[in-house]
Amino acid sequence: MLDVKNLAVAFGDIEPLSSVSFSLKRGEILGIVGESGSGKSLTALSIIGLLHLQGGRITRGQITFEGQELTQLAEKDYRKLRGGRIGLITQNPMTSLDPLQKIGSQLDSVIKLHLGFSQAQARERTVELLDSLRIPDAALICERYPHQMSGGMKQRIVIAMALAADPDLLIADEPTTALDVTVQAQIIMLLKKLVKERDLALILITHDMSVVAQTCDKVVVMYAGRAIEQGSVQYIFHGAQHPYTQALIKCIPHGLSKGQKLTGIRGTVPTVKNYPKGCAFHPRCDRAIAICSQQQPALIAASDAVVACHLVGESA
Ligand SMILES: Nc1ncnc2c1ncn2[C@@H]1O[C@H](COP(=O)(O)OP(=O)(O)O)[C@@H](O)[C@H]1O
Ligand SMILES: [Mg+2]
Repeated sequence: MLDVKNLAVAFGDIEPLSSVSFSLKRGEILGIVGESGSGKSLTALSIIGLLHLQGGRITRGQITFEGQELTQLAEKDYRKLRGGRIGLITQNPMTSLDPLQKIGSQLDSVIKLHLGFSQAQARERTVELLDSLRIPDAALICERYPHQMSGGMKQRIVIAMALAADPDLLIADEPTTALDVTVQAQIIMLLKKLVKERDLALILITHDMSVVAQTCDKVVVMYAGRAIEQGSVQYIFHGAQHPYTQALIKCIPHGLSKGQKLTGIRGTVPTVKNYPKGCAFHPRCDRAIAICSQQQPALIAASDAVVACHLVGESA
């Protein structure tokens, strides 16, 4: 359904994203993980065609969605895809909800615009949709404004907006970051259920490895604007070879007893202005060797995984 190949993004003459490739089928959930600033949102914005709003542009690569090349798509065609066949969910409900419009009429509008329904048909679909997302008293909720809802309910409405036009692909960029842990878990379970029920494809962007473990089929690990390792969820959690991926897994607070410290990764994430030479992770890597600070590691493909690390080349 979606094929991203060698994607690179630039702002002026800085290039915060390069060599990002992955693909996704219907019914699959792909996780994109990495610390803040690693290029996750730029990847999402590239697919949904909103990079220009931030002043960025795609400089290399292809994005193919259901056989259609998106990097060359005219804005008017993108407008049909966005909120139509591709739905976007972000962490801030206020980027997709209008504070001045009742929830019902916001949903009705999306449905009328993309599916050409009458007002009566649209409202019927709105109510069905809210019911299916376990939002109680749907007809009543339609008459409310976003600020009258709790954080978790608001995020369900955002999901409803993203689903309203019956998309094929959903992109959720840190959809639960602003929510408390219990609500987070409910929203993630809901997304997972929707993918199976509606046979959608989902890109789930998160910096939370435990969410990835519970939800995703495939995982792309990003560091300093590159996809440095990817593979099935089994591979990532049981066979990851990149020291950065291994460190992320060690950071999962699973089974921690009281008082025990979380193992963070030493050092800080590099910013675009000072991406280190060679492998961008080498200053933080306990296993770095001489070549790591000099040469960018090539992507090495092995059966169902891809990894960019000089150590992997060594042992192979
Ligand atoms: N509008 C912009 N102008 C310049 N650099 C940007 C812009 N947006 C993002 N970047 C840079 O691109 C990198 C990746 O950003 P982003 O994709 O938002 O990271 P993530 O979502 O993984 O936290 C960051 O280093 C950030 O500074
Ligand atoms: Mg982001």
